[in-house]
Amino acid sequence: MAGSTTYPEEFQTVIRAKDGTEVLVRPLKPEDREKLYQMYSTLSKETNYLRFLIRKPITRWLVEKWTEIDYREKMALVALVTRSGEQEIIADSRFYVDKTTGEAEIAMVVHDNWQNKGIGTQLLQYTIEVARKMGVKGLFAYINPENKRIIHITNKLGFKAKWMSETIEYKIYLPLTKTTNTK
Ligand SMILES: CC(C)(COP(=O)(O)OP(=O)(O)OC[C@H]1O[C@@H](n2cnc3c(N)ncnc32)[C@H](O)[C@@H]1OP(=O)(O)O)[C@@H](O)C(=O)NCCC(=O)NCCS
Repeated sequence: MAGSTTYPEEFQTVIRAKDGTEVLVRPLKPEDREKLYQMYSTLSKETNYLRFLIRKPITRWLVEKWTEIDYREKMALVALVTRSGEQEIIADSRFYVDKTTGEAEIAMVVHDNWQNKGIGTQLLQYTIEVARKMGVKGLFAYINPENKRIIHITNKLGFKAKWMSETIEYKIYLPLTKTTNTK
């Protein structure tokens, strides 16, 4: 794994929403705490459920824990837009590397106000690129089988889905190295 304890400046890019809005994507910083909480605390119940697969709002404490990042085994990329001179976090994509397998669990959310504008697809593409550069062997996620949007996007980007009958979820998987078997 090529991760580091210091802030990974190199993982920064600009994407464009379908409506033309410029969106900065960069690793999360500890000082983003309040902006990140602002995004998570204003998600609709449906979006919150699809992201966490639980019907409970996310606490400030948890969001604060997420901003303490050891970049050797975790990565969180946030998408920001600037409105009236103020930066706002509108999406968050993150993965946690399992040191024993070298694979990482990924999860992401785009705020309701910004969904269906092409941001999730581009953010996921960039997250895959970052994971590959960090030497992650494969990315996986557990998703609700009713989540047509993420199924559409991940299919497009090459993830394969497997039905997990014991949890009634899909496990989706994308190998990032040629030697990793598709599970
Ligand atoms: C899933 C999510 C991350 C996608 O981000 P997004 O910015 O809304 O997605 P995009 O606009 O990039 O792409 C949406 C795609 O789904 C397609 N889509 C939308 N509704 C659909 C449906 N009901 N069935 C199939 N495809 C659908 C769109 O046409 C688009 O595909 P296209 O670009 O090929 O036309 C976002 O909607 C979200 O945060 N959802 C709630 C949380 C979640 O589900 N997280 C993922 C699990 S961790």
